[in-house]
Amino acid sequence: MDRYAVFGNPVGHSKSPLIHRCFAEQTAQQLSYDAILAPVDGFADSWQQFVAAGGRGANVTVPFKEVAFALAAKLSDRAKQAGAVNTLYLDDQGILCGDNTDGLGLVADLTRLGVKLGAAQLLLLGAGGASRGVVGPLLAAGVGHIHIANRTPEKAQAIAALFDSRVTASGFADIPQQPWLLVINATSSGLSQQRPDISASHLKSCELAYDMLYDKEPTAFLSWCQQQGVKQCADGLGMLVAQAAESFAIWRGVKPELEPVLEQLTALVKT
Ligand code: ATR
Repeated sequence: MDRYAVFGNPVGHSKSPLIHRCFAEQTAQQLSYDAILAPVDGFADSWQQFVAAGGRGANVTVPFKEVAFALAAKLSDRAKQAGAVNTLYLDDQGILCGDNTDGLGLVADLTRLGVKLGAAQLLLLGAGGASRGVVGPLLAAGVGHIHIANRTPEKAQAIAALFDSRVTASGFADIPQQPWLLVINATSSGLSQQRPDISASHLKSCELAYDMLYDKEPTAFLSWCQQQGVKQCADGLGMLVAQAAESFAIWRGVKPELEPVLEQLTALVKT
């Protein structure tokens, strides 16, 4: 049986085994999918052992996305743009390939939520790996303008410099007063129950506030957006399922349906 896995440290909390087992059942694919705890400084060895034992592909999560990027012999343009790999696989010649499906997952989830990306003026908060990985796919999906704002402005400017004039950047205090239809939180502030310190005025025209993190309760950012009267708020659970579906499609050549798996996962996480 073809083996797949998610590598992380920690990895016990990962929902990927559940998601991919659901996908396999739904698409009648014979495969196994496990969570592998790799030592922080031992990702490459762990991967080699996995391949020797029949491993065909893997998802890679914190803190290994950059090591996986360095290990892959062939990188997709998306992975190059993101500077990180979340999907590894061996091609027909046994060459180790690296891809990044995070941005595609976000685009798929925003589309599922009814966002017309072609018209969107997008405010993207944060300038870490999560932010860098989604800019290219959002532009490719037709977003006309992305403004990246970060607590440390230089990091936002460094990401914007990788793209053309459709991408601008600033610190939180210098966000242009424009009608932002879509505001996406790609900071890790939610992990410490905090929110990015932006002015509520930037939410005036916001039709959808999105947090790339998820939790049982709404994140601090989404609670605040709700208080400010933003009509639609969504967390990153849909993105998680959608990026997994893109990985699955790369490995197996078949794209699973998102909704049934997202329903099952929502019931698990939110109750
Ligand atoms: P990831 O890979 O999840 O993006 P990261 O590369 O460590 O993680 O980046 C974390 C991001 O969250 C950064 O943009 C960070 O801002 P700084 O660059 O100024 O450090 C942002 N961040 C984390 N905690 C935050 C908080 N409480 N308020 C605002 N931004 C925060």
